[in-house]
Amino acid sequence: MIDFDERGDHLGMLVALEAGRNVPFPVKRVYYIYGTLAGARRGRHAHHKLRQLMVCLSGTCKVLLDDGRAQETVTLSRNTQGLLLDPMVWHEMFEFSKGCVLLVLADDWYDESDYIRNYDAFKAASR
Ligand code: TYD
Repeated sequence: MIDFDERGDHLGMLVALEAGRNVPFPVKRVYYIYGTLAGARRGRHAHHKLRQLMVCLSGTCKVLLDDGRAQETVTLSRNTQGLLLDPMVWHEMFEFSKGCVLLVLADDWYDESDYIRNYDAFKAASR
């Protein structure tokens, strides 16, 4: 998890994300995840090479992280914290609150060939 400095003043708050500063990679793509159905599990994949930083802008959700050896679940509930997702980490997002918005910064463009969408294939590749 990366903690971001909160800026702003008495009128309101602001967080700045800067590639090479508090975002530890050059950002090439930004996308956001929203409108998730209650009970849905999203993600459910790993990446061969992609690095990402996930920030929950609004609401809450949980993220299961699995590097092939150990699993850990983290709760994203603050827009002042980012979850760094390294390559070869299987991740599943679940328990989305109503109105949850996840912002994701990535170090490359969308490329389906970088995805591992089969868990057994991920386990085999992570050995
Ligand atoms: P998917 O990986 O299934 O996301 P989730 O598990 O969070 O629902 O992606 C949903 C669709 O969006 C799929 O057709 C691929 C497409 N997509 C893009 O076109 N560009 C992107 O940057 C991403 C992340 C997904």
